[in-house]
Amino acid sequence: MKLHHNPASPYVRKVRVLALETGLSDKIELASVTLTPIGPDANVCADNPIGKIPTLVCDDGSALYDSRVICEYLDSLHGGARMFPEQGDARWTAVRRQALADGILDAAVGTRYESVLRPEKLRWPDWINAQLNKIRRSLDVLEHESLGGGVDIGTISIACALGYLDFRYPDEDWRTTRPRLSEWFERFSQRSSMQETSPG
Ligand code: BEZ
Repeated sequence: MKLHHNPASPYVRKVRVLALETGLSDKIELASVTLTPIGPDANVCADNPIGKIPTLVCDDGSALYDSRVICEYLDSLHGGARMFPEQGDARWTAVRRQALADGILDAAVGTRYESVLRPEKLRWPDWINAQLNKIRRSLDVLEHESLGGGVDIGTISIACALGYLDFRYPDEDWRTTRPRLSEWFERFSQRSSMQETSPG
């Protein structure tokens, strides 16, 4: 399999962490690309008309996207513990957490592009503030979740979202008012899958 990737992308990181946690990493060749929403990469667009990463080219030549689909596909390829719990509360908790973490990322990545890429005179401070408020509200909710010591698509996604905040928003002091989440992230970050995929 081939993964169109960039080490700065937190959505790619989700896929790579899941691949490492499930022992599939050696089966995935990394194809490095640089792109922005206004500067797509031709090779990625050939496999994914939306032009986004991660995009996975499977062994039969077919392509899969986005990170949620790729993660679920990879989870179907191994015989170990499921990263997408199959049923019951565990499943709905894990996929809801993935949606919450991806929502944080959508706001954080969108704001990053708005703040760095968009010409200064076209920037929209109210929009940026609304995105930052989404992130802060979500972190407040996560502070009250029992994230425990388990690894699944929910906790992987949350860890990748927090890692992205540290990477691109170093001045956002999210830890002070969220000590439980901070402690959980400290522990999760020690995993070799997280260390190996750190963007910094
Ligand atoms: C970033 O550089 O922050 C970034 C790169 C790729 C995808 C998303 C974010």
